[in-house]
Formats: sequence, structure tokens, C-alpha cells
Amino acid sequence: MIIEVKSIIEMNAFGKRLAGVLHGGEVIELIGDVGAGKTTLTKGIAEGLGVQEEVQSPSFTISRVYPVRDGLHLAHYDFYRLNDAGIMKQELDEVVKDQTTITVVEWGSIVSGILPTDRLTLTIVPPTEQTRRIIVEAHGPRSQKLEASL
Ligand SMILES: Nc1ncnc2c1ncn2[C@@H]1O[C@H](COP(=O)(O)OP(=O)(O)OP(=O)(O)O)[C@@H](O)[C@H]1O
Ligand SMILES: [Mg+2]
Repeated sequence: MIIEVKSIIEMNAFGKRLAGVLHGGEVIELIGDVGAGKTTLTKGIAEGLGVQEEVQSPSFTISRVYPVRDGLHLAHYDFYRLNDAGIMKQELDEVVKDQTTITVVEWGSIVSGILPTDRLTLTIVPPTEQTRRIIVEAHGPRSQKLEASL
């Protein structure tokens, strides 16, 4: 499925829509160049899940966890500039298996072996400064269901 958004507001709205169909245990991999809108989309997801605090790019801390609705957690990872995920690999491995956590990963190629096959991949392409094309790909039954409910 391909979604076209015309503004940051529409990107935020898409994030909220996605948040509305999450149950916990989902893994969302965000792919796209610097400035594509991965963190902007994550902010929309976080807002939709009820996060009150400001969601910042976890580039320096690598991970941030937010408590969200229904006793769930949102774990936001950013592996940018990291050549080796080190001890984070073990943490991530546990987090992606936790059914009360929704995991969002930016720059996840170095941990692709840890991410479950059944994940939703969102590839963001910027045709213009304000517009974004989001290519939604489901890699297993669970993420297919998720995509279908969007
Ligand atoms: N429709 C849009 N959707 C998302 N971001 C947009 C849109 N239009 C403009 N932008 C701008 O594009 C930038 C996206 O930055 P963002 O930090 O979300 O990207 P990123 O993919 O997370 O980059 P990085 O790889 O550095 O983490 C922001 O400056 C945002 O204001
Ligand atoms: Mg980012």
C-alpha cells in the first residue's frame, strides 16, 4: 500500500491512524534518508498512543521508552551512525518479543537480524519538500492484518 501525505499535519494524522490499530507487540521499521520524516511520523504515532511528553529523536540515547495507553509502552530506537549495536542488541531482542511494547525503529539495518520477520516496514520518500510517499509493506500475517486495518 502506498500513502501520499501533503504536509506534516497529514503525516501526523497518518501516525495517529496507525496508532489507533496497534494492540501491542508490533514492530514498525522506518526506512528513509535523513529528513525523510521518520521521527515526525513517530511523533504522530506517539501522540495517537497518548504520549504527553515531547518525543525527541533518540539519536544520542539510541532508545527511548514511553508509557502509553492500555498499559502498553512505545519503544523508539534510532541506530543512526552506530556501527555496532553492542549490548543494545540484547535489549532490542527482548523488547521486540514483549507483547506490551510497540517498537519503532529508525536506521535499523544493523539490527535487521534481530527484528522479527513479521514487521511492518514503512519506507518514506520525499517527492517534494512538503510531500511524502509512504510505502507500507507487511512481512508476515500479523503485519498484514495491521496493514489491512489501516
Ligand atoms: N509531509 C511531511 N512529513 C514529514 N516531515 C516533513 C513533511 N514536510 C516537511 N517535513 C520536514 O521534514 C523533516 C523530517 O525530519 P525528521 O526528523 O522527521 O526526519 P527523519 O527521517 O527522522 O531523519 P533522521 O534520519 O535524521 O532521523 C522535518 O524538518 C519536517 O518538518
Ligand atoms: Mg529521525
